[in-house]
Amino acid sequence: MSALKILVIPGSLRTGSHNVRLAAAAAYEFAQAGADVTRISLGDFPLPIYDGDLQAKSGVPKNAVNLKRMIGAHHGVLLVTPEYNSSVPPLLKNTIDWITRVQDAHETRGQVFRQRPFAIAAASQGRLGGTRALSALRLILSACHATVIPNQLALSFADQAYDEMERLRNPTDIEALKALVRQLIDVSQHMM
Ligand SMILES: Cc1cc2nc3c(=O)[nH]c(=O)nc-3n(C[C@H](O)[C@H](O)[C@H](O)COP(=O)(O)O)c2cc1C
Repeated sequence: MSALKILVIPGSLRTGSHNVRLAAAAAYEFAQAGADVTRISLGDFPLPIYDGDLQAKSGVPKNAVNLKRMIGAHHGVLLVTPEYNSSVPPLLKNTIDWITRVQDAHETRGQVFRQRPFAIAAASQGRLGGTRALSALRLILSACHATVIPNQLALSFADQAYDEMERLRNPTDIEALKALVRQLIDVSQHMM
């Protein structure tokens, strides 16, 4: 059987982003667990702010279609989100909104969310580690009828969380990341 394919999507474009760093640490753990992991940047899939008039005039942008198909080519997805004003940043919400508008031939709209599990993680310099963004993201994905695995990681004090090798320092964070990785792999295998 071919390797389980996991897609990791950080929700920040910022140079030195704590969430990109966490996504890289997660990708490493997925690879260690034997998964075939792809980590992308949403900077490679720029999208306009969702506008129904734009969709009516020009259709869904090619980047949204490509992203949806990339998700569809993986067995499980990890989203790593910053927290902006207690919620999900517009980059990630807008991306999800556009993807929900994609409908490929012989598929129902939103099928890509229903057919594979999602995991969520967040990183913030604050004490709560993006917990509120995780709640918001779980709600959004659940509204898309996605299976969102119970394990999640809110990385607190993210600016101090990594050693010089870009590995997580705190054993509790390391264990939470490993548990999330294991659970996403397990659920992905069951949903294959
Ligand atoms: C508009 C805005 C709102 C923010 N609101 C929160 C917040 O509610 N909670 C929090 O922990 N951090 C908040 N932050 C700080 C972010 O967690 C911080 O900028 C973080 O580095 C963003 O993630 P990144 O490093 O992956 O880019 C906010 C930052 C911005 C720019």
